[in-house]
Amino acid sequence: MNKIKAKITKKTSLISEVEERLNAQVKMEGVSSQFYLAAASWCEREGYENAANFLYTHSEEERMHMLKLIKYINASGGYALAPEISGLKYEFDTLRKVFDEVLEHEIKVTNSINDIVDFSFKVKDYATFQFLQWYVAEQREEEELARRVIEIFDIIGEEGQGLWFIDQEIGKLGHGEEGGAIEAPEGE
Ligand code: FEO
Repeated sequence: MNKIKAKITKKTSLISEVEERLNAQVKMEGVSSQFYLAAASWCEREGYENAANFLYTHSEEERMHMLKLIKYINASGGYALAPEISGLKYEFDTLRKVFDEVLEHEIKVTNSINDIVDFSFKVKDYATFQFLQWYVAEQREEEELARRVIEIFDIIGEEGQGLWFIDQEIGKLGHGEEGGAIEAPEGE
């Protein structure tokens, strides 16, 4: 078994700086998944059932984003590290604040992806550059979705039964393409 593994796990052009950055992104996606899971549970406890389901689904998608990166790193001859995650937030002031944080978080993820895209191009790692295009498109969709949720708050308003209606509207939002198939890159 080990012999076979040694034979097929040959080092490729994945340079260690790219590998480190991809592993940092693995962690960021893991943090995202856990953050959304914690936020979903808070929403459920507070009675925002649709917001909770929205965030549970989002948490699963973030896990898929993490796994897709892990598969890519390993298939490229690197070693993906399962991330240690601590310092999770379990209390939120309001439902609106949950989604303000979601948007803020997604913008950070977009910036992080853009930095790796930029770096991979600079070091001529075009395979990683190409692989990351999926994340570039995904982040655009995720930011758009987070902004739509914020708009719902702004349009309906939180007074009276507003929060109940906001929760209903969040329940109508889709998540677009599911987190992406977890596959090794082409040619592996
Ligand atoms: Fe996978 Fe929303 O970052």
